[in-house]
Amino acid sequence: MKTLIINGSPRPHGDTAGLIGLVKGRLMGESMVLDAYRADISPCIDCRYCWENLGCAIADGMQAVYGYIRDCQNILIASPIYFSELTGRLLDVGSRLQTYFCARAFRGEGPLPGPKKGAVILVGGGDGNMEKAYDTACTLLRHMGCGEIYPAVTSHNTNERPAVMDALAVEGAGSIADFFNNAG
Ligand SMILES: Cc1cc2nc3c(=O)[nH]c(=O)nc-3n(C[C@H](O)[C@H](O)[C@H](O)COP(=O)(O)O)c2cc1C
Repeated sequence: MKTLIINGSPRPHGDTAGLIGLVKGRLMGESMVLDAYRADISPCIDCRYCWENLGCAIADGMQAVYGYIRDCQNILIASPIYFSELTGRLLDVGSRLQTYFCARAFRGEGPLPGPKKGAVILVGGGDGNMEKAYDTACTLLRHMGCGEIYPAVTSHNTNERPAVMDALAVEGAGSIADFFNNAG
């Protein structure tokens, strides 16, 4: 079993990283963490190469990620919310999934190999709301071929209490691992 974990936080030991650690601690099989702030991945520049061609014209770290997306069974998107959305760098990485939209819409290709499961972890200091970010994360997961998506696991009071001290979020992180581990 392979799991791709996309981390949208710039903080190596922050709230998102803490909850990712809890998922990883319980996860079976292998996993790859894509750190959106440190990966060598540029945003999509709408060059439209993928309107007619497989893959993406930008030769950077995303090329290896495409292979992992194709082969994996589970994908977790974990991020802080910035102004009630996913972080900018995570959206930059997400823009590179446009090739999957073009595969279906313009090149008439079928879906990625599946089935794949998806899940979303969101953390926030306590302002705004998480609905927009969850909706965006679900859109990205669907572009990567995730059919079944676990309900959002959130910690929305990190200014007062670190996410790893939030009992519901900790329980939710464990439930995501169980959801992924449970084949079928
Ligand atoms: C630019 C910026 C925008 C933010 N916007 C929000 C927001 O809209 N709502 C909120 O609850 N927290 C917001 N936060 C707070 C972070 O989401 C919060 O501190 C989070 O726990 C950081 O997670 P991390 O430690 O994994 O990076 C914002 C933080 C920054 C730096």
